[in-house]
Amino acid sequence: MNIKHIDGIEACVFDAYGTLFDFNSAALAASDELGGNWQSLSELWRQKQLQYTWLRGLAGRHADFWQVTGDALDFALNTLGIDHPDLRARLMDLYLHLGCYPEVPETLRRLQAAGMKLAILSNGTPAMLAAVVRHSALENIFDAVLSVEEVGVFKPHPAVYALACERLQLAPAAICFLSSNAWDAYSAKASGLRVLWCNRFGQAPERIPETPDGEIKDLSALLTTLFPAASR
Ligand code: LAC
Repeated sequence: MNIKHIDGIEACVFDAYGTLFDFNSAALAASDELGGNWQSLSELWRQKQLQYTWLRGLAGRHADFWQVTGDALDFALNTLGIDHPDLRARLMDLYLHLGCYPEVPETLRRLQAAGMKLAILSNGTPAMLAAVVRHSALENIFDAVLSVEEVGVFKPHPAVYALACERLQLAPAAICFLSSNAWDAYSAKASGLRVLWCNRFGQAPERIPETPDGEIKDLSALLTTLFPAASR
């Protein structure tokens, strides 16, 4: 996927889990108890967590992301036959202390120094997002940390992406949305935002409406993509 020319961007809006914060870091930190199962647990936990957001959205039965994350963890632990006392509570607490990807702090600081508005737009609850932002010492970086709880429905409902425009007081074309979750990137594009898919995991393109404006491997490519003249 070539990157189309992206100009006139006034704000970068980031997905949280998988894009800024490494959801695998929770199970990895508990690998002393999980052993070789930590990756299977992490993968199933994440898959089920997302499935539950979509299922609840379709059924009109919203519950917040903390509950959905706990329900998905219960399913994953149950499926893998893992039954350690206190492990559920430990993993849920670790979800509030996820690490960020290595390039994130420096990239965000440079974007902020370049005058870009920065925001998070995530399924996470306000409390979950505040915790991971604090854990990575990013409190002074974001102009807004937006949770789907403000609209009461999960991504990819168009109301979620519209929330970013409304709260930042910007037209969709002035916002560059970044997500490593391909379905999230494609759906933001379908809602009119400019989008770069941060394809950290080397995934194949989705077959849903609509194609992002470009694809980057990690967020460090963002500066040169948005400010090509400054990088020469
Ligand atoms: C989020 C999930 C989709 O942060 O990663 O919204």
